[in-house]
Amino acid sequence: MSKDTLTITDNSTGKEVEYPLLKGTLGNPTVDVRALKNDLGYFTFDPGFVSTASCKSAITYIDGEQGILLYRGYPIEELAENCSFLEVAYLLIHGELPNEQELNHFKFEIDDRAVLHESLRVFFDGFHYDAHPMAMMVGVVGSLSAFYHSDLDVTDPDNRYICATRMIAKIPAIAAACYRHSIGAPFVYPRVDLDYCENFLNMMFSRPEKRFLEQARAIDETAVKALNLLFILHADHEQNASTSTVRLAGSTGANPYACIAAGIAALWGPAHGGANEAVLSMLKEIGTVERIPEYIAKAKDKDDPFRLMGFGHRVYKNFDPRATIIRQTCHDVLRKSCQPDPLFDLAMALEEYALQDDYFIEKKLYPNVDFYSGIIYKALGIPVDMFTVMFAIARTAGWVAHWLEMTADTGNVIGRPRQLYVGPPQREFMPLHRR
Ligand code: ACO
Repeated sequence: MSKDTLTITDNSTGKEVEYPLLKGTLGNPTVDVRALKNDLGYFTFDPGFVSTASCKSAITYIDGEQGILLYRGYPIEELAENCSFLEVAYLLIHGELPNEQELNHFKFEIDDRAVLHESLRVFFDGFHYDAHPMAMMVGVVGSLSAFYHSDLDVTDPDNRYICATRMIAKIPAIAAACYRHSIGAPFVYPRVDLDYCENFLNMMFSRPEKRFLEQARAIDETAVKALNLLFILHADHEQNASTSTVRLAGSTGANPYACIAAGIAALWGPAHGGANEAVLSMLKEIGTVERIPEYIAKAKDKDDPFRLMGFGHRVYKNFDPRATIIRQTCHDVLRKSCQPDPLFDLAMALEEYALQDDYFIEKKLYPNVDFYSGIIYKALGIPVDMFTVMFAIARTAGWVAHWLEMTADTGNVIGRPRQLYVGPPQREFMPLHRR
């Protein structure tokens, strides 16, 4: 008779131990090895957590082989086709799609919490005009913890919900303020008559002497639609590096805004959210279509650290479903873009070249969502160093959903991995004069 267990034999002693297999709704079963240390005195070794489930979660499901991404059970393709970003944010937090009344109320809650405290606004003055916006994001979001600390009670679900919606509400205003600070423009207050994406674009580009809505580069439908789509696609991606960071920081009971700031810091890296910015830098470096073969060769060369940015993914090994959805939008936006840019032609040529190259085919390296997102953001007039900030706005919905899930879980324990120590064994201390 088959059993839902896994037996491990310690070949050095012959001792056998049996561990339960935990089965989720979908996906690979996981072996519950929590007792391993006590039973056999061993830790498991899994750098990068490639085979380790760090928690139970009911938010997002990914099947990397099949290219499936579900938010709360709904395929990303259907959400991208039919929903607004706020509907998706509501889904991630509450577990269900909102009806019209619930969505209106959610929009009211977000609008109500969107304005930044005036004292928070002066924090930006501490940053030089050329500070990277992600550095400002880490600092300013972290500083929210100083504004909302005394009335914070993470053991109270209502209080946690306020934190979550406050974060989703304020992140676009903070992000836009980072950009406005860098160009020396006055900050723009959020507006309740605009939807989440329109509001963000208005806070980014509106000018005091001229309403952005009435300007030539008005909030056109394509831009809002593309932004809405990008935000939905980036809203969550289960236990990625930044979400795991938020969870790890949150597992200690730390202030939630500080946890989100930690997530933003993790997102910044070029192997994660910084990839969309890195794609544009790479395209600039390549420069012309003629040089593509040279850079493809560099990417394939084991002795060259160069990698094709926007290609490959830790989890998706056949295709990234978000890239499939966004590819079409990317082509639409580029077609409608009133600013022809040779980098766009270069990007499309690189995509075509790499997709036909044996190395990329064999290693299953396909364009990921960030290959296209950077190109779209550029076409929308978003500055390159704001690309990862755009990702952070969207991912905030996922981060807070995971933080809420984790803090509500009574079985939550502080995250504390072990290590395989390879340093010197204990040795005798030498006083300074004898060294
Ligand atoms: N260019 C060239 N070769 C690559 C690339 C790339 N972009 N990505 C992976 N490879 C190669 C590796 O050198 C490795 O070759 P090997 O088998 O000969 O050693 C093989 O493909 C497997 O790569 P790994 O690094 O083991 O894959 P991993 O899952 O660890 O890394 C990652 C995934 C970090 C995304 C990687 O593909 C990469 O660096 N891509 C570029 C950065 C990027 O686009 N990041 C965005 C990720 S999406 C997101 O965060 C939303």
